[in-house]
Amino acid sequence: MNNLLEVRKLYKFYPSGKGKLEVIRGIDFDLPAGQMLAIVGASGAGKTTLLNLIGALDRPDSGSIRFDGVALSSLPPIELAQFRNRKIGFIFQFYHLLPEFTALENTLMPCLLRGMPLPEAQQRAQNMLEKVELADRSHHRPAELSGGEQQRVAIARALVGEPKLILADEPTGNLDSVTGEKISLLIRRLHDKNGLTSIVVTHNEQVAAKCDRVLHLKDGQFVEKL
Ligand SMILES: Nc1ncnc2c1ncn2[C@@H]1O[C@H](COP(=O)(O)OP(=O)(O)O)[C@@H](O)[C@H]1O
Ligand SMILES: [Mg+2]
Repeated sequence: MNNLLEVRKLYKFYPSGKGKLEVIRGIDFDLPAGQMLAIVGASGAGKTTLLNLIGALDRPDSGSIRFDGVALSSLPPIELAQFRNRKIGFIFQFYHLLPEFTALENTLMPCLLRGMPLPEAQQRAQNMLEKVELADRSHHRPAELSGGEQQRVAIARALVGEPKLILADEPTGNLDSVTGEKISLLIRRLHDKNGLTSIVVTHNEQVAAKCDRVLHLKDGQFVEKL
């Protein structure tokens, strides 16, 4: 099987008083291309820290991450940023949309970062908003949208650049259960339709149940059961 991601002996520390806090303590796993993986764990288990390492938003203290055959540690910062922009789509619990911009403008942002001409970026973003069933809200700003709608915009923004990997950090954590269910079904559907590989961090068992595999994170390590 072809692995999109190979994570080996990963460690991450944060300074804490005179010592250090070991937040990720020896993580090993492979993520086959096409798989949708759930990572489940209590608050403080290290889930966000792990996603940030995989998404190259932060660097590990030791260990290695190979993504699509490339060792992330071998890339200088500018190349790492380009790699992140091209290959990874991020979805967050609190959406992280830019409040001054419309749904369409938020969605097309990754295309502009890549230097795509504006009309093409607008067209792509509009198509993507149709896929998340939000085409009729494209000129609304985030404050004029419900939580579920804002998360749909964030999903459109994550997918507009046709990334290989989706990293979703508690994507339904701020939504009521009915809306959360719709959002997790949407992520599953788009994952399948676009041949994506995804990691979804969640507390929600219904969300985890839609994934192909579940890993349990406890105190910075994968364990058999929580
Ligand atoms: N930038 C940071 N500096 C110091 N400690 C941090 C930092 N980020 C997270 N931590 C600590 O690392 C642990 C794991 O955090 P996090 O990865 O956010 O957990 P989770 O997402 O599972 O709730 C927590 O104890 C948290 O307080
Ligand atoms: Mg977290």
